Amino acid sequence: MKRKNSVPTKKAVLTTSGHRLRLKDNRLGRPNLELKIPKRIGVAADHGGHELKEDLILLIRSKGYQAVDFGDGYPAPEDDYPDFVIPLARAVARGEVDRGLALCGSGVGACVAANKVQGVRACLIHESFSARQGVEDDNLNMICLGGRVVGSGLAWELVQTFLEARFSGAERHLRRLAKVAEIERGEFKS
Ligand code: RB5
Repeated sequence: MKRKNSVPTKKAVLTTSGHRLRLKDNRLGRPNLELKIPKRIGVAADHGGHELKEDLILLIRSKGYQAVDFGDGYPAPEDDYPDFVIPLARAVARGEVDRGLALCGSGVGACVAANKVQGVRACLIHESFSARQGVEDDNLNMICLGGRVVGSGLAWELVQTFLEARFSGAERHLRRLAKVAEIERGEFKS
């Protein structure tokens, strides 16, 4: 009898081997499920998050990470968050950057947009418990912050917590992520 929580064998795309987790099905992007230390951090913002983006890029670099700036280049009130967040989200999904920070005024629009890209697991994060647990349990590869909600001091604390956290690789979380990935594959079929 099939267990209620089991992932059907043909669709069980995640395996564990030591500390390295590899997606058998490459369509979701191998790097996102590997326990590697993030080095290249992509940052994108609209005008609502521009100032915070500039602060975070300096702080990220000061800690020895590489920061990749996806814009905006200057805060134009008429610029639109998808124009900056989607290129960043695609770079995260392809493994061109290890993690992503998407910023707008509230962080909400950035989060909605980022999660439209297959392979992205983004969340609006304004407190530290979720900044850490979101990675450990849910393997977040992007966080979204509101430049009109948090100051750069708190934002930097949250970003550091996010960057220092590692996915646990626990079986139950792999099972849940496999179910999410399965839904995602269905939704993106056209
Ligand atoms: C832009 O003014 C603002 O709506 C945007 O930055 C963001 O808050 C959307 O969620």
